Amino acid sequence: MREGQIKIPSLSDLQTHRSEKWRSFPQEILPLPVAEMDFPVAEPIRQVLTEMVNASDLGYLGPIPEMGISFSGFANRRWNWLVNPDYVRVATDVGVAVVELLRIFTKPGDKVLFSSPVYQNFYTWMRETQVEMIDVPFKVDPESTDGTGWSHDWNAIEAAYRSGISVHLLCSPHNPLGKVYTREKLLRIIALAEEYNVVVISDEIHAPLTFKESPFIPFLSLGEDAAKVGVTVTASSKGWNIAGLKCAIIISQSEKMHEKLNELPPALHYRASLLGAFATVTAFEKCDDWLDEAIEILDQNRNLIANLISLRIPAVGYHLPHASYLAWLDMSELNLGYDPGLALVERAKVAFNSGHIYGEVGRNHVRFNFATSPVIITEAIERIARAL
Ligand SMILES: Cc1ncc(COP(=O)(O)O)c(C=O)c1O
Repeated sequence: MREGQIKIPSLSDLQTHRSEKWRSFPQEILPLPVAEMDFPVAEPIRQVLTEMVNASDLGYLGPIPEMGISFSGFANRRWNWLVNPDYVRVATDVGVAVVELLRIFTKPGDKVLFSSPVYQNFYTWMRETQVEMIDVPFKVDPESTDGTGWSHDWNAIEAAYRSGISVHLLCSPHNPLGKVYTREKLLRIIALAEEYNVVVISDEIHAPLTFKESPFIPFLSLGEDAAKVGVTVTASSKGWNIAGLKCAIIISQSEKMHEKLNELPPALHYRASLLGAFATVTAFEKCDDWLDEAIEILDQNRNLIANLISLRIPAVGYHLPHASYLAWLDMSELNLGYDPGLALVERAKVAFNSGHIYGEVGRNHVRFNFATSPVIITEAIERIARAL
């Protein structure tokens, strides 16, 4: 039995939660979609929130120099990435940040490159800003060097750059494929972006949850060329499970990019929540040990899924993700049709995210959120095995 600070609640306690994950399905369905964790928050975060609520300190967010300082410390400790605290800006959440960045780097009709399958709101962000979506899908590749079963199509990426894109939207680490970009691949993107005058927006929200075997490399840590072309958006919301508190950050690394970002609307800052901003500072400053323990649990969970699949549903395809808590399961051998997610809700009473919402190449897949207890993971796989 693990004896750490993270004690995962029972199913019946989790069913009292008010978040989307726990409100989208009737009680007989085991809910495993939506990227939030079933882990209780870190004690220092609970303390700062309680302190603020008890003091009725619940007004608008004002100046918060602690944000840049705390993130810069965290980035340096975890990734040897030197961040100028003055170049860290607060944003309402990652989605709002990316939309506002797209507004300053594109006009409607401009081309934005991305690679599906990808976090479904990439599509809503691009639709909202009326850019032309240029999708260069990942290719299924059982021989992929990183073992995730999917590879980049570099010829098509280079062709897209040549066609005149304005922005390349990266998901790094990647949701739902669980990929961590290698230095070599990031350098390739940086070289292309420089050559074709493209801005790279790197969504690094899952980065704090990267597993040891494939160290996360921040885009902006890769030298002057990266600093010239790149902007990073990240948050504490995935790593420390506080998405409902609404706060993210935008980071630039060169003076020129920093100045360009002055075009962002000031409301981006004060539309973040005061609670979210101070919880974020606390996460970056005081919660490394909680994060380490969360990663340890997730590491055990990703391996538990591999064992259970090979024992109970061996026809399901699964590669260990290198970051975060999203298992990307290939259900094509099970003949559950275009949307295996729907079939599993009906037949097994387990809810995952259906693969096609991440792009057409995701059909026949589901995304399984394993940031929960081994008991719930086991129950989910048992339900599927019994229903097939
Ligand atoms: C890659 C990625 N970006 C952004 C988000 C959402 O971030 P936010 O709630 O801050 O908009 C998620 C949530 O799952 C995600 O997976």
